[in-house]
Amino acid sequence: MASIIDGKARAQQLRQSVAEKTRELKDRTGVTPGLAVVIVGDDPASQVYVRNKGKQALEAGFESFTHTLPAETTEAALLDLVDQLNRDDRVHGILVQLPLPDHIDEQRVINRISPDKDVDGFHVENVGKLVIGADGFVPCTPLGCWMMIRESVESLSGLNAVIVGRSNIVGKPMAFLLLREHCTVTIAHSRTQALDELCRSADILVAAVGRPGIIQGDWVKPGAVVIDVGINRVTDDSGKSRLTGDVDFDGAVERAGHITPVPGGVGPMTIACLLSNTLKSATRAAGQE
Ligand code: GUN
Repeated sequence: MASIIDGKARAQQLRQSVAEKTRELKDRTGVTPGLAVVIVGDDPASQVYVRNKGKQALEAGFESFTHTLPAETTEAALLDLVDQLNRDDRVHGILVQLPLPDHIDEQRVINRISPDKDVDGFHVENVGKLVIGADGFVPCTPLGCWMMIRESVESLSGLNAVIVGRSNIVGKPMAFLLLREHCTVTIAHSRTQALDELCRSADILVAAVGRPGIIQGDWVKPGAVVIDVGINRVTDDSGKSRLTGDVDFDGAVERAGHITPVPGGVGPMTIACLLSNTLKSATRAAGQE
């Protein structure tokens, strides 16, 4: 039976540590970390995330700036807002909530954010730094996964890591983080052949595809670390809606060494890592690093 990784508790611990360091930074330098979150349109899931980001930023002792723009906002207007936030000394982190409406080029907007304020780690400069092993901002969800993996095993060196999912937000950055730890990394996706066999070879298995239960219990290597990034809303037989991951938890928990639940695993760590990245940016801006 696997040990269940408590992401909620780990996230709370990280938020506490960020809040303490924030107090110290304020006392020492007078600088208060500032996080600006921009949301375009009225996607309900995005609205929930953005509200939580603002709330947790305030709880950590940050300043929070939320910009809510209508769905028909032009790309030019959004780029102007990014320019304004880049110039604003109170703002140390800028997050533009994705997805953006179809008429806006997401990567163009992200690349307009100053790389020093790109606490999402999506700017090509930060992506490049991660790939070459330089110090930049690392995307929050894979950063949270990496912390939980590192705390679950003594040494990652030489282990087989299989990442199912190749998104820019999770799969690709996760691969480079684990490569940096000297894992042998395979990125699998919807067209991968014999996915079950590949998963059975994984000492570290990260599922980030967004398909409920796609990773079956008997695909898990005994003793493996299983990280479930999927957050899928499903309706069960009684008509009730609930969240479930990409991994068949009940099957996998019997074989894994360590496993994250959904909810309460990866999810809570993401915003905690965003706060940690924003504090890092403010600490640098204050000349303390
Ligand atoms: N949409 C889903 N996840 C994320 C994230 O980590 N950052 C941003 N900006 N948008 C998202």
